[in-house]
Amino acid sequence: MSGGSVRHLYVHLPFCATRCGYCDFVTLVGRTGEHGAYVDALLRELALERDALADPLDTIFLGGGTPTFTEPAALERVLASLPAAAEVTIEANPETVHEGLTPVLARNGVNRVSIGAQTFNTALLDVLDRRARPEDVRRAVHVLRDAGFENISLDLIYGIPGQTAPDLERDLEQALELAPDHLSCYELEAKPGTRFTHAHGEELGRQADAMEGYFELVVETLVDAGYRWYETANFCRPGRESRHNLAYWLGRDYVGIGIGAVSTVGARRWRNAPKLRPYVDALASGRTPPREDEPLDPATKARERLMLALRLDEPVPLQAVGSAIDPAGLARAERLGLAERRGGGLALTRRGRFLGGAVTAEILA
Ligand SMILES: C[S@@+](CC[C@H](N)C(=O)[O-])C[C@H]1O[C@@H](n2cnc3c(N)ncnc32)[C@H](O)[C@@H]1O
Ligand code: SF4
Repeated sequence: MSGGSVRHLYVHLPFCATRCGYCDFVTLVGRTGEHGAYVDALLRELALERDALADPLDTIFLGGGTPTFTEPAALERVLASLPAAAEVTIEANPETVHEGLTPVLARNGVNRVSIGAQTFNTALLDVLDRRARPEDVRRAVHVLRDAGFENISLDLIYGIPGQTAPDLERDLEQALELAPDHLSCYELEAKPGTRFTHAHGEELGRQADAMEGYFELVVETLVDAGYRWYETANFCRPGRESRHNLAYWLGRDYVGIGIGAVSTVGARRWRNAPKLRPYVDALASGRTPPREDEPLDPATKARERLMLALRLDEPVPLQAVGSAIDPAGLARAERLGLAERRGGGLALTRRGRFLGGAVTAEILA
């Protein structure tokens, strides 16, 4: 083991085949001719940050965009250049998973695949502008399992315009039939002012009213099926937590490379600008890419640590977050059975976790 102290690396691969109406991530459609140049820049940024990174790393997460849409030679170049890590996750859209992809992932150390299923309902997939059909999700899982991938996660979204509670029940049922090791279930977030929000305005309002019930349905169904509700929106089989995302929630340092990527190291946070050209040009001439820097004072860090930690089922040690707590607010939350102290730490109760952010806001100083 050598190098720096940061044990978690995020790698942003922004390209997608098409753009889904609801998506607010830093993405670029197509641009296959530019994937190679982007990867050159990415590897230069990795070289710039290498001294900060431990070797081996604990986790690497290749997120997007659609990392598996990256032109194959460029994707393999990134994968082959990454430091070793115990957990290496790649996000994959179902339609990009095929027998040609799995050997590339396997020979370059990827050992966890997160598939964006979103829903198994074809009409709702159309509402989301998704290309993949339910059978593509099933096929992707089988192709990965046949290739020896043992740690597979599925993403689902609920609160989709037109969705009903029985639709969500069927989505959960079909996801469970695939026996994923991990599930992320997200409430649909629709940004005001987007075409998607404009197109589905009224129906989004109706879905917002139903969201609490959907959340309970998701938690109850997945917990009954034997999954651990280890983070607000995340569920896993024993030992199958996303170690990478857990590192964020536990307030660990991480480096992110690529356009729009965020890094947090000690008292400093920086965010790369989202535009491709300035990123590639800066790195091609040996300069740091355009970034926004944000100093993090201890009080801000403690507040963030508390907000993220209360999303988890395990208690956060009180000494790590004490300064961020409002004692009167905590006492109220405890009296109402929404928060509890366990073994020198603090956690939300089951009821508190359903209310989530509102309880955290009450406890925060
Ligand atoms: C970086 S995104 C995309 C990964 C991959 N390209 C895909 O679409 O499957 C990771 C996950 O975030 C979730 N997501 C994206 N936009 C969302 C939104 N507006 N509301 C809720 N979840 C969203 C989706 O479940 C998605 O799979
Ligand atoms: S494929 Fe994924 S990252 Fe790309 S636009 Fe759709 S949701 Fe966003």
